[in-house]
Amino acid sequence: MDFVEQLKSSVDIVNVVGEYVRLRRSGANRYMGLCPFHNEKSPSFTVHVVHQFYKCFSCGAGGDVVKFVMEKEGLSFYEALKTMSERYGVPMPKRSQYSDEDSKLRGSLLAMHEQAEEDFRANLKSQAGEAARAYIAKRGLAAETVEHFGLGYSDRSGRALVRLFEQRGFPVAQMEASGLVGKRQDGSLYDRFRNRLMFPIHNEAGKIIGFGGRALSPDDEPKYLNSPETQLYVKKKVLYNLHRAKEAVRKEDRVILVEGYMDVIGVTAAGFRNVVASCGTALAAEQVQAMKRHTHRIAVNFDPDAPGESACERSIDLLLAEGMQVRIVELDGGLDPDEYCKERGAAAYQERVDGAKGYFYWLADRARSKHDMRTSEGKVAVLNFLLPKVQNVTDQLERMTIANDVAGYIGVDPGMVLDHFRKAVSERSEKAIVRPTNLLRHDERMLLIALLTEAQLRAEMIGPLRSLQTIDTLPSRRIFQAIFALEESGGRVGFDEINGRLEEADQNLLAQTVLNADGEISREEVVAAVESMQRSEQHNLRVQLKARIGESERAGRLDEAMRLTMELQRIERATPSRRT
Ligand code: CTP
Ligand code: MN
Repeated sequence: MDFVEQLKSSVDIVNVVGEYVRLRRSGANRYMGLCPFHNEKSPSFTVHVVHQFYKCFSCGAGGDVVKFVMEKEGLSFYEALKTMSERYGVPMPKRSQYSDEDSKLRGSLLAMHEQAEEDFRANLKSQAGEAARAYIAKRGLAAETVEHFGLGYSDRSGRALVRLFEQRGFPVAQMEASGLVGKRQDGSLYDRFRNRLMFPIHNEAGKIIGFGGRALSPDDEPKYLNSPETQLYVKKKVLYNLHRAKEAVRKEDRVILVEGYMDVIGVTAAGFRNVVASCGTALAAEQVQAMKRHTHRIAVNFDPDAPGESACERSIDLLLAEGMQVRIVELDGGLDPDEYCKERGAAAYQERVDGAKGYFYWLADRARSKHDMRTSEGKVAVLNFLLPKVQNVTDQLERMTIANDVAGYIGVDPGMVLDHFRKAVSERSEKAIVRPTNLLRHDERMLLIALLTEAQLRAEMIGPLRSLQTIDTLPSRRIFQAIFALEESGGRVGFDEINGRLEEADQNLLAQTVLNADGEISREEVVAAVESMQRSEQHNLRVQLKARIGESERAGRLDEAMRLTMELQRIERATPSRRT
């Protein structure tokens, strides 16, 4: 078995997809959920348990588990195999035929980041690192915290990494591609990070892909300098600390989202391991999806200043759109999470997290504080701000409950709020669940499913079926032909093998057919389908013959007409009598 087959047989597509999509069972061999490749309100994304593939009947996305990971994570085929091999513990052969240029470059970039981290850590311990150590002490970071987060120091030379990379023989182009080294107009190279406290940033597999560098003194601008986007570091996909936090996130079924590196570190040091940050960029859907693979419950704890609050408000919409359950942690005293943990202690922070408000009440508070709630204008303004947000709540019961609560909270008549909602709901034309339609006739479908799933029946049927011309007139003819060809070549006749021989339109047809099949089919059903197909064949032959007889007669070729008529009679005698 080659590695791809081995990988595919050791992971279950339902579990893999389930890390990204909330799936629910929708048939004996099927799960459904909201498609992760386009925005939809009702599920048309389907996963087949037996044949291990996915298909969205709205946007057309579909494929096997490797394709899913490639598309979801934006990886090449090789990278997807590698990622999955690490994530699901299926060892990949060392020398692999799947290696390509792209992944070799990534390998070099990863190696450069590892070396940079080593170098930064060594600096921090060296004489050059004294100021950085003093800064760390001032911020109250324990030695084991520094170690745990791999903090380091980029020295003042501006040449340290360049020199290191030159020694190791990395070409200039790779140095530049790493984002760790810059190039001046005159072509000389310099270290991007100088005299900064360095925070390594990891991908979910725990590989270093970038750095954040904090200035040591307040007049050194900018406060944080970060790695640029590179082939490794795609900012909208990365959450700081997710690779360390994910286990705790799963265990506690909740993630705490903060704004900064130092917040992650401070909160973790206080004993909360389920914390991540978005690293100075606005939260992106991909980042939310990365969290969602581990939990649906999030506690957002941004800085209690104006930028933090508006970032929080923007994040709420995104988080809800991705189906997260959102609570907002509020800290008093104008403290950020890092400061709060240090000043008030872990127990106090735990209390704030446990007592975090549903996002709705946070929004209501925020709206109330902006308007004069004693006037009816103020109330209407608040209501107008909140109502569209309530409408985003997908669950109707929850939506009504919130609407009711909100009315009470801002002191307006609940009837008024509910009326507004009933109207909005009835106006909203929710698309019915998209169901794959049946494009194939019954016997055709039965035969395909049997050929796909029942090796024994396949062996018996394939001869009789192959001799039928009717097969070549069916919408699914290319699928039948692929099965015949596979069988003939003596290869395995599985879903993947068949699928691999088809063009996209036929792949879709195959997926639909398989997804529509529920439960076992019996030998009787299959035999009946073969007979039905044979009757079609006879019928078609008769129709054809009759047409040709008519043609010959009209053209005066009476010999030919006679010969064809005899053939027709012969066929009619041989035709199995129609069961009634
Ligand atoms: N950030 C950035 N560039 C800046 C300022 C901030 O990239 N010039 C990002 C960093 O990822 C930072 C986060 O935004 O961690 C939050 O900013 P801030 O609250 O200022 O940083 P803290 O992590 O709280 O750091 P500190 O406590 O050292 O100020
Ligand atoms: Mn801070």
